[in-house]
Amino acid sequence: MFDLDRFIEDCRSARAADASHKAVREVVARAVAEPSAVLAGLGEPSKAGIATLHHAPELTILNVVWAPYMTVPPHDHLMWAVIGVYTGREDNIFWRRCDDGAALEAAGAKALGVRDAAPLGSDIVHSVTNPIPRLTGAIHVYGGDFFRSGRSQWDPETLRPHEYDAAWTMRHFAEANTRWEAAR
Ligand SMILES: [Fe+2]
Repeated sequence: MFDLDRFIEDCRSARAADASHKAVREVVARAVAEPSAVLAGLGEPSKAGIATLHHAPELTILNVVWAPYMTVPPHDHLMWAVIGVYTGREDNIFWRRCDDGAALEAAGAKALGVRDAAPLGSDIVHSVTNPIPRLTGAIHVYGGDFFRSGRSQWDPETLRPHEYDAAWTMRHFAEANTRWEAAR
């Protein structure tokens, strides 16, 4: 059984015991090893969005639900992250900075499915796509304050950087929901 309060407490203890992602990754891996329990605990996803489950200076926990075929453009976090998928699939492209930071080039990829708990280093730039025709749900844990300013995102066409825009991201999720509902 997945108990959200217990999960948050376990992540907080893991973060306090180990400043790296390692102990938190184990907590997330244990949780998503029983995806049906996570679904029961968090509720079956009904629309795309980002729900904040815990927010503190040293730890942020989000429940991220991706709309079908939705993509978010490249962005950084400036802190380590652990992504644990409990339903659906997340395709990650990893990027590296080039042109003295003025642009990006693709550097790798990782397809994450149910029960995967993947760590991302603090210098990672990634974009994410839900490649399937239904909602994907994942627990995202960050080793810091995910909502602090100073992060970057990159234009998906030109791959030029600009300041991360949280309001844009929220609109992006809302538009993805609108498109999905229109297609149903
Ligand atoms: Fe991200």
